[in-house]
Amino acid sequence: MPHAFTLHVRHRPDDVTDVLIGPGLLRDAGRLVAERALGDAAVVVSQPAPWGNLGKPLLAALKAGGVGEAHAFLFGPGERQKTLRTYTRLLVEMAAFDQALERDLFVVGFGGGVACDVAGFAAATYRRGVPLVNVPTTLLAAVDAAVGGKNGVNVGTLKNAVGTIVQPRLVAIDTETFASLPPREIASGLAEIIKHAVIADAELFAFVEARREALLAADPAALAEAVARSLRVKARFVKEDPLDRQGRRALLNFGHTVGHALEAATGFRRLPHGEAVAVGMCVAADAAVDLGLFAAGERDRLVALLAACGLPVSPPRGLDLGTALAAMARDKKFRRGAARYVLPRAVGHAVLHTAPDLKALERALARRAQPSAGSRPA
Ligand SMILES: NC(=O)c1ccc[n+]([C@@H]2O[C@H](COP(=O)([O-])OP(=O)(O)OC[C@H]3O[C@@H](n4cnc5c(N)ncnc54)[C@H](O)[C@@H]3O)[C@@H](O)[C@H]2O)c1
Ligand SMILES: [Zn+2]
Repeated sequence: MPHAFTLHVRHRPDDVTDVLIGPGLLRDAGRLVAERALGDAAVVVSQPAPWGNLGKPLLAALKAGGVGEAHAFLFGPGERQKTLRTYTRLLVEMAAFDQALERDLFVVGFGGGVACDVAGFAAATYRRGVPLVNVPTTLLAAVDAAVGGKNGVNVGTLKNAVGTIVQPRLVAIDTETFASLPPREIASGLAEIIKHAVIADAELFAFVEARREALLAADPAALAEAVARSLRVKARFVKEDPLDRQGRRALLNFGHTVGHALEAATGFRRLPHGEAVAVGMCVAADAAVDLGLFAAGERDRLVALLAACGLPVSPPRGLDLGTALAAMARDKKFRRGAARYVLPRAVGHAVLHTAPDLKALERALARRAQPSAGSRPA
């Protein structure tokens, strides 16, 4: 029994994602697939770093569970290859593998969010849909990309321009696989965990404060607890709004209006996603304080925790503020002339805020972009 936590995310009565979390879970991957009768031939979609470190144990586990054949599709590394070209290359390889075997095919997303997004899009569209198993190997993918069903690829500079929402059947998260992640990737994932804590789980926030050092050191047991709590929050919002249509799921975008703008303004290269979200949460917290919705002391607690996790709390030096503001204005969260974004009311509670414009966020961003404003805690 290596897995410490199990979540069942029920989207419709006949459509459930089992999410299993725990140190050492990779060794059980084949049995978990077999128990759910997901197929007997796997197409594993991965990138060089996770595959080099962990490909062999994954294949051995699949084989032990009765998966007779596996084909590894490697691409990347990184975001640059999350393209239509990679996707079509994958489909062609899947079809060749499929024809040669005539077995029940399923897809495994094995890596970070990039691998899971490409795998999910291929699984959702190949033969009008084959089962998807996500085995995320970055902390960010574990608490975000692997669960919730969104998938896709970029087209030019348009992020996630083409994709679908189809839920994975199984998500297996082995927190031991995060041991090889660079510290910056761990911190980036922690930013999304802290996001989940601020919007809906004050206890998770206190847990990250208390166990910060163990989490940053990639302690598998501490990470399993944080990932499980974090996914409980994400699962709740996804369950309420599986196709992202009613707006409730939008609370998961806390920190992302400014975060996306910073990513766009820095060309999606200088700033990892989690770091952009960390700055975005600080800016949204400032705006909420300005509007009298959030106590300054709570904002300071959030900023202090992010900084203690090694995350930035102000935009990178040399940021072109004009470009960032323009990117924010282009953001899709305008509805009928009104701007909508997420603001914290307390640690553990956030609201969807509607305003005629983005001025409150813009002012807060401009302030945090000035190094002299003293926005970086000592
Ligand atoms: N579908 C969704 O709901 C959703 C949500 C959030 C993010 N995303 C997407 O996820 C992507 C970002 O994900 P990410 O932060 O995981 O980046 P990533 O997938 O690029 O992974 C970061 C790097 O770490 C490497 N890596 C992966 N596992 C490793 C391991 N165990 N040890 C060492 N290196 C390892 C990867 O190969 C890559 O080079 C973006 O494309 C984003 O759009 C999707
Ligand atoms: Zn995010």
